[in-house]
Amino acid sequence: MSRLVKQMEDVLEKIYDKSIVRGDNIITILQDIQNELGYINEEAVEWFAKRTGVSAAKYYGVATFYSQFHLSPRGKNIITVCSGTVCHVKGAERIIGKLKDELKLKGDAQTTRDMQFTLENVNCVGACSIAPVVLVNDKVFGKQSADKMVKNIKPYKE
Ligand code: FES
Repeated sequence: MSRLVKQMEDVLEKIYDKSIVRGDNIITILQDIQNELGYINEEAVEWFAKRTGVSAAKYYGVATFYSQFHLSPRGKNIITVCSGTVCHVKGAERIIGKLKDELKLKGDAQTTRDMQFTLENVNCVGACSIAPVVLVNDKVFGKQSADKMVKNIKPYKE
């Protein structure tokens, strides 16, 4: 068994032990896995399915239902472009296109090869008065343009 696999198993074992004590449900277990590993990884789901006797399909069913769960690794910085109606009308698509070019994201790719950025979009973030809105991690950038956002992400590249 590799050291990495052993480390992951130790983490999963702790989550499992905690879940037994707290009587956790699948959502809580998935939240703990994501908090510890950064995303819901296949090996972790298989491990939990085997350990708990609950099918992997059930874990995936929950993980794919809630947008809070991520099934692939995410970048260090998360850029979230609001694509709600108001932001869409005010240029969200142009911002996404320019950021994809800037980050060299091809096709459906959301995360840069160096794992520095993940670009994603969501529906209305509830700040329509300052549309179009982009979040970088927890920081809100309102009344944005594609060019402004290219400048705004520069500090996160260092
Ligand atoms: S549509 Fe973007 S904040 Fe509401």
